[in-house]
Amino acid sequence: MKGKRENWGSSFGFILAAAGSAVGLGNIWKFPYIAGENGGAAFIVVYLISILLIGIPIFISELIIGRKSQLNVVGAYKKLSNNNPFWSIVGYMGIFTAFVILSYYNVVAGWSIGYFFEGLKGTFNDFTTVELASNYFGNQTSSTFWIISWQLIFVALSVYVVFSGVRKGIEKYSKLLMPILLIILIFLAVWGSSLKGGSAGLAFLFKPNWGSINGKVILIALGHAFFTLSLGMGAIITYGSYFSKDDNILTSALWVVFLDTFIAIVAGIAIFTSVFSMGFNPADGPGLIFNILPTVFNKMPGGNIFGILFFLLLSIAALTSAVSLLEVITSYFVDNKNYSRHRVVIISAFITFLVGIPSAMSFGLLKDYQIFQKSFFDIMDFLSANILLPGGGLLIAIFIGWKYGYKKSLDALESGSNEWFKSNIFFAFLGKKVPAKKLSIGNVWFIFIRFIAPVLITLVFLKSIGII
Ligand code: TRP
Repeated sequence: MKGKRENWGSSFGFILAAAGSAVGLGNIWKFPYIAGENGGAAFIVVYLISILLIGIPIFISELIIGRKSQLNVVGAYKKLSNNNPFWSIVGYMGIFTAFVILSYYNVVAGWSIGYFFEGLKGTFNDFTTVELASNYFGNQTSSTFWIISWQLIFVALSVYVVFSGVRKGIEKYSKLLMPILLIILIFLAVWGSSLKGGSAGLAFLFKPNWGSINGKVILIALGHAFFTLSLGMGAIITYGSYFSKDDNILTSALWVVFLDTFIAIVAGIAIFTSVFSMGFNPADGPGLIFNILPTVFNKMPGGNIFGILFFLLLSIAALTSAVSLLEVITSYFVDNKNYSRHRVVIISAFITFLVGIPSAMSFGLLKDYQIFQKSFFDIMDFLSANILLPGGGLLIAIFIGWKYGYKKSLDALESGSNEWFKSNIFFAFLGKKVPAKKLSIGNVWFIFIRFIAPVLITLVFLKSIGII
């Protein structure tokens, strides 16, 4: 998993792998549609605050747990808690979460590959209006055959990637491909901003209307901070277990968080300037980018090629994320059960496929089967992103802050950090390393993980169920 190190900072391989996990459908498909449904700018502010105050400290904690234990998620908790059964259960919860997320993630990734082929077929040439595009999307996603075939093809691809060792290859290619995806997004963002009416999209994204904030919106923003950074269920623990003691946990974490957030914001600009310039509804739900972008490609010179490339790269971004989820499951069974890697990967991937079938059909045959006005797809999404991940994050914070403790955590953190952790946090922002007694980066991080993050997550949970 580690990349080549010769010319790069020591943690570059990790940054690529972790950015591959973090950057995915969450940034480009999910972020725009939930921002659209939850009021735009104010939602984005809550999301950014969640990343800053909770996401970054927990990202660092997961890396510590992984590097210290050098084990899969269950093994890591067991080892660092001296076999305490409660913490083992938290590890199993991570594996369960991986199954839940993958089940519907595969479905949306399937849409993306499906749209890559639609692009090749020239379908986007017919999408002269968003209405035509959304009718088409509605038809495709309600066709059980279309949807399950692409879902299965995506699952097969992720199995292939995990065990043919193409993995290293994919990570090497993502070095090239992800920057191309970012360039396309930047181009789309600039293009969208230049469209008539596009500036209304910018206002929607950047001018907060605080009236749209309530407990549920805050929970969705917090949940998305976890989802987009791949936090709260052990993916970063598993990746951290490939860290060496010379790697710098702090700078690696900051790089991944920065890249992930930047890509989400650019995707948001690209989508909402287009949405508003076409007079479309920002609260369009999970189909948003599939309805909007093909119409944009239709109107753009050379847009068809652009569209093909976009959906291809989106599928690859989804693949590198899905692989990280599958890796959480695989590494546990391979370490503990002595099953062969191939068998574990095939069986677990197949289970995620089966569990995902009702989610796949939530837009067609099972559309009317709803619990609390949520389809099966919505329930899987809500359960994982808004309950299991923040819950898992809360437990990680409690584990590091209260169980593993100050001394051991700071020792674990300091390794490879070039003494930065002892530096005064304010001087560090100015790029100066000035030794500090109290307000060192390490101490401030620990205050966040021991007090601030757990309290904030708990408050958000209480607020979302209306207790406060
Ligand atoms: N972060 C990925 C995305 O934004 C999805 C993902 C990969 C994930 N691994 C994860 C989400 C682990 C939660 C936990 O698309």
